[in-house]
Amino acid sequence: MAKCLTVFESLMAAPARRLIEQSGLSAPTENELVILDNGCGSGTVTAMLMDMLDDTMKHRMTVTCGDRSESMVASTKKRIEEEKWSGVEAKVVDGEVRAVLHALKH
Ligand SMILES: C[S@@+](CC[C@H](N)C(=O)[O-])C[C@H]1O[C@@H](n2cnc3c(N)ncnc32)[C@H](O)[C@@H]1O
Repeated sequence: MAKCLTVFESLMAAPARRLIEQSGLSAPTENELVILDNGCGSGTVTAMLMDMLDDTMKHRMTVTCGDRSESMVASTKKRIEEEKWSGVEAKVVDGEVRAVLHALKH
């Protein structure tokens, strides 16, 4: 499983980098950043974010890694601890748009 995740992550690194560049998150800002890594899996996109942003930007951001799979969330929680990511939490969430809209209404 760990080896599969490593192979998967190496394949996803370039698209994750491009996603972050296109989102504008890699550009310097004075704003607080509140980020949902929706369908985070093992945290590939957040890992790339931690790699790309400087410390000042990292201190300005909070990241929620959300996935509906409990095992993926457990694996991301372990990674948060091991890699000492601050301002990052992992939660089981249903990130489908209709589920998010429902949660916002109640
Ligand atoms: C292909 S993986 C992508 C993982 C990671 N974002 C990446 O780029 O490496 C898709 C992930 O989305 C999660 N997922 C699918 N539907 C979801 C939903 N409605 N809410 C939250 N997570 C979901 C799956 O459990 C899976 O971990």
